Amino acid sequence: DLTGRQRWLGTPIDELYRMPQCAPSLSHLKVVPNHTITVRTDLLREGEVPVSYPNKFKDAWDDVSVKMPCSEKNLFPIETEDGSSVQSRWEVINTALQGGFKSSLDVRDAILRYNTAHAKKWDFTALNLLCTECLEHCEAQHLFEVVLPYMVDLALSAPHLCTMPIPLLKARMNHSLTLSQAQIACLLANAFFCTFPKRNSRKSEYCNYPEINFYRLFEGSSTKKIEKLKTLLCYFRRVTQTRPKGLVTFTRQTLNNPPNWESSQKQFTRLHITCEGTIEDDGYGMLQVDFANRLVGGGVTGLGLVQEEIRFVINPELIVARLFTEALEHNECLIITGTEQYSKYSGYAESFKWKDSHKDETPRDEWQRRCTEIVAIDALKFTHFLEQFLPEKIDRELNKAYCGFFRSNSKSMHLSAVATGNWGCGAFGGDTRLKALIQLMAAAEAGRDVAYFTFGDAQLMRHVYKMHTFLKDKQVTVGMLYNLLNQYSSLMCKNCRTTQPEVGLYAFIYERVSSHSH
Ligand code: AR6
Repeated sequence: DLTGRQRWLGTPIDELYRMPQCAPSLSHLKVVPNHTITVRTDLLREGEVPVSYPNKFKDAWDDVSVKMPCSEKNLFPIETEDGSSVQSRWEVINTALQGGFKSSLDVRDAILRYNTAHAKKWDFTALNLLCTECLEHCEAQHLFEVVLPYMVDLALSAPHLCTMPIPLLKARMNHSLTLSQAQIACLLANAFFCTFPKRNSRKSEYCNYPEINFYRLFEGSSTKKIEKLKTLLCYFRRVTQTRPKGLVTFTRQTLNNPPNWESSQKQFTRLHITCEGTIEDDGYGMLQVDFANRLVGGGVTGLGLVQEEIRFVINPELIVARLFTEALEHNECLIITGTEQYSKYSGYAESFKWKDSHKDETPRDEWQRRCTEIVAIDALKFTHFLEQFLPEKIDRELNKAYCGFFRSNSKSMHLSAVATGNWGCGAFGGDTRLKALIQLMAAAEAGRDVAYFTFGDAQLMRHVYKMHTFLKDKQVTVGMLYNLLNQYSSLMCKNCRTTQPEVGLYAFIYERVSSHSH
């Protein structure tokens, strides 16, 4: 049986559109009200480190900007003989980090000098284990003598490098932020040394933001933490050896007017589906889906190590989004253009291993960004299987996916395919067959083809391919399928006490469409 050995089905992947080939020429990079750019756009040159703008540190300690560790408002309480007083926290950070490190204990002591309130709680076992049991002696020596000192320099260069206040990308804002990779490296070095103020407690003003300081990464003794540390240290080693020269754009996109799904006349677009390969390796140049958490990056600084967290550790520039991206609402996504991959890995979750440094050769666009476009969309987490078939849940997922896929004023010929897979179907417990249809509908509505990676599931590949072929043959529109999903929902929810549907979704669709076409 030939189909049994088929590794891919549908449109050959090379016929799908990728960046930069499909890209229209970009408009000149310039500051507009909804785009903050922290470098001199007039001095941007290929192969040169971008020049920060403005040339002197502009302090902002307000509720629309990131509170920087080097702000003069960042104060540290001290006890003196005549009572209590305050001291510049940035000065304490400078002194603590410039003392040099002979062991991981010195790193811990330095970090705790300006995070005294957490001295009893924070645990550095993973960092310790990495340095004492996992690294070769010469690797550990290189870490303490070369990499960490360079990381300190990088972190402490914040007032010279990150001179412009970084706007918070808050809920319901349509705003883009372009940073240089060098600025991102500086911000991430600060995250590593846990210098960001007001970011160590869930109760603070940043309670609706992801965690940015790396303290959880150092804690516990799981091998996941150690492999993540190796992966991130590979990034720091690379960026301290050679300053990266490009830019990265973060765009928060809100969908204010969702499509009228019920009456959509759109036909399904092309599909390439494969049980081999991954979004990041085989979907280069496409719009790559990050199976996100509403707090972008999910558990990347903690224990998580599935699709999103893996992507964030191999492309660490993604992690900086956690500094300024408020939790995503139901109709929002975050688009990140230009991050670079620094590491190769093997395995997944518990078996994840850092493998090697990776040299990313993805071409850059006219704005000096790598042509890697990633979109963070968070699926709903389902605990009861049937819940996801409720019309309001289907609407939410359709609109979320569409928010990620649609681009205003873009012609289909200029839109790369969407590279995706089992979005919401791992940690979040969704049904792969339903989610595949939802994503195909959203992609069709947005005018984009789909490259779908089933992550080893050959049966899913055949089932989705067969359904897609059937829908196209029968000229079923997005609106018709939407109405069928609602019919299926009301049928299923008559029997909502059962946990699994009695009739499969695909069987239902085949039956309904066939009986109507006669
Ligand atoms: N390429 C293609 N498919 C993949 C890849 C890959 N690189 N990696 C995994 N898959 P999951 P979710 C497949 O569980 O359910 C995180 O903590 C694989 O079949 O990461 O949306 C986030 O921060 C896997 O089972 O996504 C959220 O909190 C499936 O994709 C939460 O998990 C789903 O991957 C999101 O969970």
